[in-house]
Parts: sequence; structure tokens; C-alpha cells
Amino acid sequence: MAMREEVNERVATSDVTLDESIYPREKIDHKRVSIFAENLRDGFKFEPIQVQIHPEKEGKYRILDGVHRWNAHKEVGLTDIPVIIKDLKGIDPLLYAAKMAIGPKQLTEEETRSTARRAFQNNPQLTSSEIGKLIGRSRQTIDNYIADLRAVRQIKIDQKIWRMNRLGIPQERIARRLGETRDVIRSHLGEMPIMAKSPNSDLSKGLTIPQVAAKHGWSEPMLWSLVLEGKPDQTRFKNLGWGLRTWDLWNFNDCDPRFGDDWPGRIPAQMIGHILFYFSNPDDLIFDPMAGGGVTADTCLALGRRCWSLDMEDRADLRPEIEHYYWDMTIKSWEDTILESREKPDLIIFDPPYFQKKAASYGENSIARLPRLEYLHFLENFFRFLKTTAKKTTRLALINSDWRDFQSCPALKEETQNAILLTDYYKILEPAGWELTHIIQAPLSSERFNAIIVSAMQEKKILGVTSRYILLLKLKMDIEKNNISGK
Ligand SMILES: C[S@@+](CC[C@H](N)C(=O)[O-])C[C@H]1O[C@@H](n2cnc3c(N)ncnc32)[C@H](O)[C@@H]1O
Repeated sequence: MAMREEVNERVATSDVTLDESIYPREKIDHKRVSIFAENLRDGFKFEPIQVQIHPEKEGKYRILDGVHRWNAHKEVGLTDIPVIIKDLKGIDPLLYAAKMAIGPKQLTEEETRSTARRAFQNNPQLTSSEIGKLIGRSRQTIDNYIADLRAVRQIKIDQKIWRMNRLGIPQERIARRLGETRDVIRSHLGEMPIMAKSPNSDLSKGLTIPQVAAKHGWSEPMLWSLVLEGKPDQTRFKNLGWGLRTWDLWNFNDCDPRFGDDWPGRIPAQMIGHILFYFSNPDDLIFDPMAGGGVTADTCLALGRRCWSLDMEDRADLRPEIEHYYWDMTIKSWEDTILESREKPDLIIFDPPYFQKKAASYGENSIARLPRLEYLHFLENFFRFLKTTAKKTTRLALINSDWRDFQSCPALKEETQNAILLTDYYKILEPAGWELTHIIQAPLSSERFNAIIVSAMQEKKILGVTSRYILLLKLKMDIEKNNISGK
């Protein structure tokens, strides 16, 4: 180990961390640490270790090179350590750490293999040659190391494309979302019929949907989409085990766990199913601008509708069909959205988060952060915008609950300025150009309140909220005529 007198910077040893995810060795060599500690006690100065600003822990650094030296500093009781803070400019930190590690002591075969595999998992765009160059192995060796990972990734990409294509997302948007070229997407699309063959054959042999899903790694909604293809809506309801409600009161106790993710404010797929049944037709285009856990998209797969979904939460790997989009609250019209596309939706399903009180459940800049008036103001603008994306026949389904400030508050003492009721929504929908056609009650389950809570509420005369409504709207005719005549 070459010794140096000069150092770039000194930081506290306690601010330096070992991040296992970028450490290429299987274990720390304690004998080596002891020798280095001995050297330090004898007054030797080591080369500064190399660190990177920690991407997740504020004020901390993670080691790229020098784990043994850092441990020796700690063993001797030194509170600071010379470091070079590296900016890797896009180089994979694990591969950089591996390259540095090879210098003083070769990695074992198992360490090299594991480094190559981890690097590929972190960044599947890396080629075998790129990985090989950094860790000192040939392209063919790396190909062998990662062959199975590549195959799994291929299957995963195929499934993402299958799902997005099935939901009617245009090819150029699929390509953008998955970071692939349109040619790649086109060639994958050619494989789609072959891809469905094996699950289809297992289904026809009598395997259940959960069994086939587990065997082939398909999601259940994807399989429902296959199994129910071409069937009328009523048959689909029957096969899904959803009793069809004939009147305008839709009670559902639980969310059907097969559709959508566990998500704050998750709504039952059965409810979306009923909206689709009554207010859309097979193959219609559905738009969900704040799609959350993806229950709308999943239900659309089962009921044979196309669906475009957006959300500020980006879950590209798990939910590529929910495209990443943030409705910036400082903007009054959002012309740059995907809805610029020529096709206009047949049905918009809009399930916004509650205002203020539920803020902690969603991302930092969500509209749930807004105080009451600003929240209503945002929605009014948003309804005006939605009108510009709609056609004459488009329906808007707005899902909302009366939000009253009832917690710990007797009914007589509730403050109206802390509440948003059904009528408040209607007051802004009307001037924004939307006409109400149906009010459907779809109450929240009251089972979430246990007996102790209920008795405490009754004691204090607190009136809880379980009401939830679906407002169905269409464009107001007079406004539409004005638009047509250019006024
Ligand atoms: C009530 S949740 C939707 C739940 C969904 N229907 C489900 O069942 O999973 C509302 C969603 O709005 C999203 N959201 C809130 N403010 C947003 C904004 N300004 N732009 C985009 N999405 C936003 C949140 O991330 C959240 O996922």
C-alpha cells in the first residue's frame, strides 16, 4: 500500500458507511484490518479512501474503495479519515468498487460472478462487455454469469408490453415508458400471441387463475383479460363472482384483492366494474388521471376496456401502465399531457385524494396538501381542463366522500369551513361545464369502526362518515353548442 502525506479532505469516520449493495467482496479480511491498524499506530499515513455522497442518507458517505483502511481507522480510535469524494458521472458504483478492489487483491470467482449479476440487476442496460471491462472478465464469461437474469428480464419486458398494449397505450408511449426504441417494442409485439399460448394451455387443462399466475408470473388481471376475451359484460361479472347491482345503491364490504395494489384510498374493483358496466362499452377508452394503486387499469383488463392511467407516483417497474405525470397545481391548464393525443376518452374515472387531512398518505406535492379553498380551486380548474379533453359523449365519473371534520367533534360543533360535501363538488362542476346525470351511493364500509370506537362516538354525539358517492356527468349542451359555433 503506497503511503501519502497529502489528503483531499477529512471527514468523520462515523459519517462514512459501508453499503453492502455496492461492496464487491464477500467478507472483510480482519487480518488485513489489523495489519493496517498496526501501521496507523506506527504513524504511517494511508492513501485517502474513496467515497461517494450517500444517495439515501443525508450528510453521509458510502465507501467505493478502502473498507479495510476505514475499519483500521475505527479500530485505532481515529475520529476522522482522509477521503476523496468521487463523482462517478454515471459509472455504476458497484462496478467501480470492483475495479478498485481488483488492484490490491483479486476478487474470487464467486465475488466476480455476484458483482456482475448485481450490476446487471441494478442496471439492465449495461452490456456484458461494459461489465467485463470493469471487472476484468471476457464478454462471454459475463454472458454466462447473467444468462438466466437476462431471460427473466426478457419475460418481464414481454409482460409489461403485453399489459400496456392490451390497455390500448400507443406504441410510442410504451417505448418511452420502458426506455426502449419503437422497433424493439414492435418486435416484442410480434411475439405476443406466442406468449399467451402456454398460460392458455394450462388454463384449458383446468389449472386455476392463481395457479397459472404463480406458474407463469402473470398478474391475475392479465389472465382474466385472456379468459374473458370476447365475452359479454354480464358473463364477465358472473365469472368474476361479482353480483351485479341493478339499483343506484352499490354496497361493497371489501376491495377485491385481485385487482389493484394495497394503496391509500384504494377503492373496490367491483365499484369500478359497475361504473364500466353502466357507463362504457367494450373496447372504450377509459382515462384515470390520478390512478394510485391501479385498480381502474386492472378492472379494465378484466372487462375488456382500454385504459390510460396517470399518477405522480412513479412505479415504472411494477406499474408501467400507470404513466408518470404530475398535475402541477400552479398551472391552470395542462396542455402538455398525454391527452394531446388524437383520441379522446369515452369515460373519465376521477378519484382524487381527500384534502389536507390525508396529506401524509400521499407524496409531498399531492393535492391532498392543499387547504380547503385551494383544493376546491384546483379541482375547478381541473374540471375545466377535463372538459377540453372530452368529446360530446364522454362521461365523467367523480368518486368522493363527504368530508366532514367529525373526528373528536360532536355533530353540533363541527366547523363547516373544514368540510367538503357533495354539494361543494357540484358547485364547481356546474360552472366548469359539466352536467350531472346520476348520483350513485357507494358507501364506505362501516366495519372499519370497532365497537369501542362506536360507543365512544355515541357517548360524545359524534356523527361519523360512511357516505361515498359517484357523480356521473356529461358535457353541458349549451356550452358545447358555444364551442361548436366558435363563441
Ligand atoms: C385516492 S388516490 C387514488 C386511488 C386509486 N383509485 C386506487 O384505488 O388505488 C389519489 C391519487 O392521486 C395522486 N395525486 C395526488 N395529487 C396529484 C397530482 N398533483 N398529480 C398527479 N397525481 C396526484 C396520488 O398519488 C394518489 O395516488
